[in-house]
Amino acid sequence: MVGTTAWAGSCQTAAMVAQPESNRPLRLLVLGGTSFLGRAFVEAALEEGHQPTLFNRGKTNPGLFAGRVETVLGDRTRDLRPLAGRSFDGVVDVACYFPADAARAVAALAGATARYLFVSTVSVYADERIVNDEDSAVAELTDPADTGLESYGARKAACEEIVRSGLGQRATIVRPGLIVGPHDPTDRFGYWPRRMAEGGRVLAPGEPSDPVQFIDVRDLAQFMLRLVVEERPGTFNATGEPIEFGSFLEGCEAALGAGAEVVWVPSGRLLDAGVEPWTELPLWLGDPELLVASRVDISRARAAGLSFRPLGETVRGALEQPAHRQLSSLDREKEARLLSELVG
Ligand SMILES: NC(=O)c1ccc[n+]([C@@H]2O[C@H](COP(=O)([O-])OP(=O)(O)OC[C@H]3O[C@@H](n4cnc5c(N)ncnc54)[C@H](OP(=O)(O)O)[C@@H]3O)[C@@H](O)[C@H]2O)c1
Repeated sequence: MVGTTAWAGSCQTAAMVAQPESNRPLRLLVLGGTSFLGRAFVEAALEEGHQPTLFNRGKTNPGLFAGRVETVLGDRTRDLRPLAGRSFDGVVDVACYFPADAARAVAALAGATARYLFVSTVSVYADERIVNDEDSAVAELTDPADTGLESYGARKAACEEIVRSGLGQRATIVRPGLIVGPHDPTDRFGYWPRRMAEGGRVLAPGEPSDPVQFIDVRDLAQFMLRLVVEERPGTFNATGEPIEFGSFLEGCEAALGAGAEVVWVPSGRLLDAGVEPWTELPLWLGDPELLVASRVDISRARAAGLSFRPLGETVRGALEQPAHRQLSSLDREKEARLLSELVG
């Protein structure tokens, strides 16, 4: 939580920060900016003529925007003093995972910006077995010292609260679902375009009508930029429209044209055979009760201008990078064995 004194101080300073007018280049501070979503945001901002400044340690893709973007070096887990005395039209906190880091950034920057956009996640929702909208209950962080994967959603929810308390109406929270596309370091989605591009018999999990939901990193970056430019407060789920797994794979085939033969194997049989949902077969949730987790309500973001490029572009975009295939995803040998054992 930001202390009362810090908040009062930041309100006074905030009044001195110029409010953005439309069509003028905005001075945007990006906390991060050099891996995946931050990188796409910086590219979108540059394309629209804005002036991003990055704050990071200079470890991830150093020199990526050399000559085009100023980088202020620093470690946000320690302090943000290198940014002291600066002011911005917008701060975009792309990759914050811990409440202490959110609080440190808010204390340092709430008084220095007209808008503060925090990237959260749809994993904040307490119950994944319902259709969640922005008013659904979020998970509670029971142990602030918890750094485990299991507490990711609760930690992000706690970070959101810190940003809301510190910035009030100047806060914008974006909750993405699975982010896909160029430079994805996890490259879960990339499994499917790559597999479909290889052709042959492709093991597909569950039912063709099962929903999947994801967003192209470039569409998400453009939406985030729009929210900052238009100074929209509030919280927005930001992922794709749910589409059927079968339509998704047809879209891959249409974009890649490799003549793949998709063979559907029911979830129960794959689970019985010990196949790991999501890791071995990305986008597959395994438990039929979890299918609804891929039906997150995005109507608020759609009304605020979230739009999507054609599926084929997203599919091809996922192939525009060297594969960082997760070691745990299904290899061709295991896929062939499963197909012969489970289908014949
Ligand atoms: N991937 C998904 O499917 C998904 C889904 C939902 C939500 N999200 C959210 O989307 C965001 C993805 O972020 P991203 O990694 O793509 O962001 P990014 O801004 O492209 O990359 C992370 C940046 O953080 C910087 N950084 C890391 N540690 C730092 C430190 N101690 N001090 C200062 N800077 C530091 C890195 O640079 P240096 O290493 O040089 O410091 C890098 O520039 C996250 O908030 C995640 O929770 C992701």
